[in-house]
Amino acid sequence: MDKPKVVLGVSGGIAAYKACELLRRLTESGHDVRVVPTASALHFVGAATWSALSGHPVSTEVWDDVHEVPHVRIGQHADLVVVAPATADMLAKAAHGLADDLLTNTLLTARCPVVFAPAMHTEMWEHPATQENVATLRRRGAVVIEPAVGRLTGVDTGKGRLPDPAEIFEVCRRVLARGVTAPDLVGRHVVVSAGGTREPLDPVRFLGNRSSGKQGYALARTAAARGARVTLVAANTGMADPAGVDVVQVGTAVQLREAVLKAAADADAVVMAAAVADFRPAAYAAGKIKKRDGQDPEPVVLVRNPDILAEISSERPREGQVIVGFAAETDDVLANGRSKLRRKGCDLLVVNEVGERKTFGSEENEAVVLGADGTETPVPHGPKEHLAEIVWDLVAERLH
Ligand code: CTP
Repeated sequence: MDKPKVVLGVSGGIAAYKACELLRRLTESGHDVRVVPTASALHFVGAATWSALSGHPVSTEVWDDVHEVPHVRIGQHADLVVVAPATADMLAKAAHGLADDLLTNTLLTARCPVVFAPAMHTEMWEHPATQENVATLRRRGAVVIEPAVGRLTGVDTGKGRLPDPAEIFEVCRRVLARGVTAPDLVGRHVVVSAGGTREPLDPVRFLGNRSSGKQGYALARTAAARGARVTLVAANTGMADPAGVDVVQVGTAVQLREAVLKAAADADAVVMAAAVADFRPAAYAAGKIKKRDGQDPEPVVLVRNPDILAEISSERPREGQVIVGFAAETDDVLANGRSKLRRKGCDLLVVNEVGERKTFGSEENEAVVLGADGTETPVPHGPKEHLAEIVWDLVAERLH
């Protein structure tokens, strides 16, 4: 089978050096990558680097190898075009259809999915001209990854950093796997909770659970690759932020509730993949609880935590919102799932069986998605991102 053909466009920003790692990941995972830098990008990383890492000649202009008509061919033959970093200038040119070098010509001739990973100073990103260009590109079907927040070129920090190349690679992989040029979650805001809450007993101990957060992160990544604005409320996961996703870190169930309710106010969908502790210790000891010779330990008294899924499902912060819950069950999986769906009042419930080596911490999952409308969608054993895609398919159907 031919390797998937990827065009890596690189425009002139300091983050061009990070595109080398993206290129490596793409080539090492079996993609045939043609790098098309702009002339300004070569001020940051030279043609020799791109050529050596990609195994292809590198040109910025339409005037090299004219007999091969590169300004048309490269775009026509691509399975994916990813521009990383995409400068404000590049977004403006792409939005307005300018074609004054090889990369902009390639963008006009490509009929495959296109991903832009912008990187620039916060002021340039927030400028209405840039924001309108981004909106135009998204409306036309491009996936524009939100920049990350953090250190910029100099000592300044803010929104505008190129996301981690490993995470841009994940977006590319998801977009290539779907192969569609019209991402179906563009213009949608989705909220995903992930991980497991920890309920502190004292400054060094907590009651927790074994949820890794991998399923929630897979949901966040796939939604971003389908064009959604994503808020990920992450409880104790310790994983890198997915590209283009706004991550809110929380610890306890009460903090998770607050973060989810805030984000849900304008969300089109809320997916509760987090394992939320049903109970928390009634009292928090400000100092470490000590054992005392000859004395039995004090019993731990627990109180109920709020049920966030049930609360959002009954209050529906926004009309037409789709609410999804997860249920991990050990026995009578489907029967318990059906009654939980009714009890919680959500629209979809992803039910999976847990046990030895199943679900927690693993890369794979198997589930049945129950719909409040009576539907049942079995999802065979496979990667967690496959289950995530099916969840978004079912959410998208209900949003339309
Ligand atoms: N959930 C929640 N708030 C809680 C507990 C759970 O929002 N306090 C959400 C989870 O994120 C998940 C769903 O509810 O999406 C199901 O969680 P589960 O623990 O299986 O449900 P419980 O109500 O705790 O049911 P039970 O313990 O009786 O199995």
